[in-house]
Amino acid sequence: MEYVIEAENLTITYNGYEAVKDLTFKLKKGETMLLLGPNGAGKTTLLKVLAGFHTEYRGKILVFGKPPVEVKDRVAYVPQTFSLNTRVPLSVLDVVAMGALYKRGVVHFNVPREVIDRALEVLDFLGLKHLAERPFRELSGGQKQRVLIARALMSNPELLLLDEPLSALDPKARIDATSALSKIKAEIGLTMVITTHDVNPLIEIGDKVMLIDRRLVAFGTPEEVLRDEIIGSVYGPASRTVKVGERLYCIIGDVHLRVR
Ligand SMILES: Nc1ncnc2c1ncn2[C@@H]1O[C@H](COP(=O)(O)OP(=O)(O)OP(=O)(O)O)[C@@H](O)[C@H]1O
Ligand SMILES: [Mg+2]
Repeated sequence: MEYVIEAENLTITYNGYEAVKDLTFKLKKGETMLLLGPNGAGKTTLLKVLAGFHTEYRGKILVFGKPPVEVKDRVAYVPQTFSLNTRVPLSVLDVVAMGALYKRGVVHFNVPREVIDRALEVLDFLGLKHLAERPFRELSGGQKQRVLIARALMSNPELLLLDEPLSALDPKARIDATSALSKIKAEIGLTMVITTHDVNPLIEIGDKVMLIDRRLVAFGTPEEVLRDEIIGSVYGPASRTVKVGERLYCIIGDVHLRVR
């Protein structure tokens, strides 16, 4: 069995402070894992370890059978907040092309033709080609999010880590971003870990769901994890899962209108 991620009793610390502890889970090639948990649960912390950026941990964590720092080149990470530290008005094409040239934030000029061609191909794949010449900073939040996903694909990653790709998006933009992720799953078969506060738009692409709250609460298929007693233990007893037809929905928190 080919596992992309294997974690066993993984405890991640910041200067000795245990941010999240005792995580045990495995993810196979081509699977998508949805990572849920309240603020401060340790979601971003886990992604940073998987990306090889944070190395203070104990227990076992292997990505492609190796410590994450050794396989950084095979992993792409789209952070929760993203800012371009430049006064140069970069075009969407520049931003995407940059994904192939470096992974850390220096601006390159004289981008090779083959990189431009590949960036156009990736933009086309995600239905964004029409935005190629637009200044990145003028895009809407939803457009930016999809451009950043395109940028992450430029390094041909084998594992894609996305930190709250749907947060701050309106319902239409959420649908666009979700269909971009579905397409990546269906046509590239990439292994993905996606953190989210709202699991509903992503349930269809989630092979596995992990719920954490500074420790592992549950890991399994969506049906195994999204159960009233499990989500209720983290988000309060008003949390529910409901099935409408074949679809499972997760209602977290007591936000509702009472219908008389
Ligand atoms: N650089 C850091 N130094 C020290 N502690 C940190 C650092 N980054 C995160 N933490 C702590 O680790 C814990 C988990 O934080 P993390 O950012 O992983 O949570 P999260 O699940 O991503 O939350 P959110 O939903 O708000 O994004 C928190 O207690 C946080 O204060
Ligand atoms: Mg976070």
